[in-house]
Amino acid sequence: MKENDRGYADLHDHLAALRERGLLIEIDRPIDKDAEMHPLVRWQYVGGIEEHERRAFLFTNVVNAQGRRYKFPVVVGAFAGNREIYGVGMGVPLDEVQQRWDRAIANPIPPRVVETGACQEVVVTGDALKGEGNGLDALPIPVSTPGFDGAPTLTATNVITRDPETGIQNHGTYRAGLKAPDRMVVRMATRVGGAGGYRHYQKHQQRGDKTMPIAIVLGAPPCVAFVAPMKLPVDLDEVGVAGGVAGVPINVVRAKTVDLLVPAEAEIVIEGLIDTEYVEPEGPFGESHGHVALEQFNMPMRVTAITHRKDAIVASYLSQVTPSESSAIKRVSFEPMFLSHLRNTLGIKGVKRVTLHERMTALRRMTIVTVEQGTPRSEVWRALYGMSAFKADCGKIGIAVNEDIDPENSDALFWALAFRMNPAEDLQVLKHRSGGHGPEREHETDQEDATLLIDATAKEILPPFALPKREYMERSRKIWEEMGLPKLRPQPPWFGSPVGDWLPEWDEGGRRAATGGYLENGRISEKARRKGLRPETSYRPDRDRDEH
Ligand SMILES: Cc1cc2nc3c(=O)[nH]c(=O)nc-3n(C[C@H](O)[C@H](O)[C@H](O)COP(=O)(O)O)c2cc1C
Repeated sequence: MKENDRGYADLHDHLAALRERGLLIEIDRPIDKDAEMHPLVRWQYVGGIEEHERRAFLFTNVVNAQGRRYKFPVVVGAFAGNREIYGVGMGVPLDEVQQRWDRAIANPIPPRVVETGACQEVVVTGDALKGEGNGLDALPIPVSTPGFDGAPTLTATNVITRDPETGIQNHGTYRAGLKAPDRMVVRMATRVGGAGGYRHYQKHQQRGDKTMPIAIVLGAPPCVAFVAPMKLPVDLDEVGVAGGVAGVPINVVRAKTVDLLVPAEAEIVIEGLIDTEYVEPEGPFGESHGHVALEQFNMPMRVTAITHRKDAIVASYLSQVTPSESSAIKRVSFEPMFLSHLRNTLGIKGVKRVTLHERMTALRRMTIVTVEQGTPRSEVWRALYGMSAFKADCGKIGIAVNEDIDPENSDALFWALAFRMNPAEDLQVLKHRSGGHGPEREHETDQEDATLLIDATAKEILPPFALPKREYMERSRKIWEEMGLPKLRPQPPWFGSPVGDWLPEWDEGGRRAATGGYLENGRISEKARRKGLRPETSYRPDRDRDEH
């Protein structure tokens, strides 16, 4: 049981846990939500700060350009500023996150409907939603990409809609751009495998409904917030999965003006009706694929109520070019899903790790499959094919490497491609991939793409990595530090290990050379002299020493 009696943390509990672990930076100087806030947090993704050093930022003195002060604080990075922060939200160490999801999906716990909820301590309706400074305009919603975005935009959302046929509710993280104190435009992806909420919209249209009820939650309890960006099976009640994560039912309460159930401990809930007839331009908005999404017609929402806790905190996700909070929140659950698919469903035991490349490529486009050295070639290819077919919009470029290649290190990947891949033998292009999530191209009618798969594994056992052994690097590091030379930040791999194609004779010779004994090595090699061989013929002491 956590520090409260409900059995799971709300955003306030979560921030306290982050504060306790030193993962929360609190800023009380005035910060302009539209021009300064997201760029400030962005620096921890583009300023050479390592992933583990990233933090959540709580802004307690939020203003706009006109100097208007907002009564609500804003938190950015609270859910997945880095993977450690996500783990705190799940209540488990990072390496247990996948098990927790597997358990929750297999054993969802239905939510419990309660009569009252903290999220409805304050209810704003009617005229109080109109006019500058009221309704949505009272909320400090930041501009995410200042200079490009056309509106302050909700990003850390659980957008709740209900299937009008089955009654099952869906939670999705979709953005919504502010248009007026009582109106915004919501963007739900229409592509294959896109937004669950869009299927509900289509069903409402088919039934002739002119509106679709919707509730947008800002600042759900972390276990509930995490289900919204996940691709869970259609028609699985996602709040049940959140209950599975918590191990207890999640409390939900009836929304005030629409027939939907919302998380009782949420910070803020914006209720309203989506217009299913008219669409309105939304954007531009900086997107996770790395380009600005240009204006598109999307779904206008008329706000019917804003309900919130008295001490509500507005949550916002840092998205746009990756890495970002948006990619961290997805990566934690996507990578283990791929690994489990290849190892458990397809039974390819040689697969050790699946890495979705994050920096700039937004996880979906490039996948690195790490396989054990010696995995049969046919299994390496089964892993590549299996990876590329697992999700419609993931795995456009797949590269198989061995465990000595750090998949997080692009230089190491290039090294593997440069020396272990023969383009004539080790490369396949597969046709008929869906276009997936990418910049809109007005002139492309055919959205089809293709897949590129590359086997960059070692095809034979290779000699060791050519850097001094660890003991010599460590000895000289001491000297470096004693001399007060610039601070070292070792970049793996920073030493070589005697693994691979390497003989004890060579190891012994290396030890002798490093201890001043090279003359003995010269005496040994003199005994192996031969006549008439072409220079660059290989010599292996285990095989050739006694062949005279
Ligand atoms: C920060 C962030 C913003 C997102 N914005 C959108 C969006 O505007 N529209 C959309 O359809 N999906 C968006 N997504 C992706 C969806 O959340 C994701 O596809 C999720 O699986 C949707 O849930 P659903 O399958 O229940 O619809 C976003 C994800 C994140 C993390």
